Amino acid sequence: MAIAKRFSIDKSDINTVPVTKFQAIADFFVFLGLSVAYVFQSIYYTICGWPEKDLNNELCVITGGGGGLGRLLARRLIRLGVKVILWDINQDGLDESLQMLESLGGWCRTQKVDISRREEVYKAAEEIKNNFGDVTMLFNNAGVVSGRALLDTPDHLIERSFSVNALAHFWTVKAFLPTMLEKDHGHIVSIASMAGYVGIPKLIDYCSSKFAVVGFDEALRLELEMLGADGVHTTVICPYFIQATGMFEDVNSRWVNTLNSENVADRIIDAVRKNEKFTLIPWYFSVLLAVKWIVPWGCTSGFLRRLVPDATPQHHLAQGSPSITKQEEMHSKNIHINNNNNNNNNINNKSLLIQRISASTLGERVL
Ligand SMILES: NC(=O)c1ccc[n+]([C@@H]2O[C@H](COP(=O)([O-])OP(=O)(O)OC[C@H]3O[C@@H](n4cnc5c(N)ncnc54)[C@H](O)[C@@H]3O)[C@@H](O)[C@H]2O)c1
Repeated sequence: MAIAKRFSIDKSDINTVPVTKFQAIADFFVFLGLSVAYVFQSIYYTICGWPEKDLNNELCVITGGGGGLGRLLARRLIRLGVKVILWDINQDGLDESLQMLESLGGWCRTQKVDISRREEVYKAAEEIKNNFGDVTMLFNNAGVVSGRALLDTPDHLIERSFSVNALAHFWTVKAFLPTMLEKDHGHIVSIASMAGYVGIPKLIDYCSSKFAVVGFDEALRLELEMLGADGVHTTVICPYFIQATGMFEDVNSRWVNTLNSENVADRIIDAVRKNEKFTLIPWYFSVLLAVKWIVPWGCTSGFLRRLVPDATPQHHLAQGSPSITKQEEMHSKNIHINNNNNNNNNINNKSLLIQRISASTLGERVL
């Protein structure tokens, strides 16, 4: 009965009796006292070192484990004694990951799952429960990027960004959270991005889906706290651009170096072991983000436009990424040709209407 109550918040959980002035003041001082205690606790642990939890024998699902960051995380978790199940749409990537992880002597299984399809997520989760037991750690890591200006992004790529980067978190968490709550034990890790806190041109669908992930994590954490699920933790990870994972490796970043993927993976595992709530990589971006709300918009905009003059992942267009179909490649080439023609005719880049008309072969409204 107690467990069943934990799955949802009913009206009896919410105190609807109006508070007196005295209660409001008392509540404020309780809040103040607790806040001071948390600050001192944080200072103490920062000086003496945060306690790290043991992950031995946890059962973990990592989405997007067929390559990139997912594979690097799996390697570290395996070394810590975690049993790892990798999900991806890329079967070759999964096979490679499996071979590599088994060569380390770890316990690893793979499932080909398209996380944008909730029926596939629920079915795969059921298979895991029946065959391997209850999942205690979930890394929502899979992600996609379109990397085009808004008016050049076909509708279905915008939908894909949200389905994979944001909506899928709902399906995976709904699949695994109930048993975590039952046991009051679990950890949900959301791999968002620095793009979940700041907007970047040509990454509008990506940024907005990552903003959604940041909101998802924070709201979920508060809901878990309301449910009294102290043993179920959430962590949101917001890295800057990472080298050599395949997503943004050739992005044009100035002033701040793109991140080494091995270091990012180390930092993520460290954050999870310490039950950190949110982790910005590199850490000093948290200072810049705080400043963002104080300085005039011109400063923020000037900084961001100089920091990332062009966020388009060029290799996606050059090689054709696995997630961009031949048809879309043709579409981007069409746009390129049209751009050249436009330039020859002294029609500048503002003539997006011409690009949109040329893209009508996609059968979608590009606008
Ligand atoms: N690479 C960066 O610069 C960077 C920066 C900040 C945040 N991130 C985030 O880190 C996470 C991992 O990125 P990465 O750099 O390893 O990228 P990646 O492209 O190397 O890996 C992403 C993985 O997700 C898988 N995937 C895509 N769609 C899927 C779907 N529908 N179902 C299942 N799997 C799917 C891909 O096959 C791929 O293996 C992503 O969420 C990304 O947004 C990356």
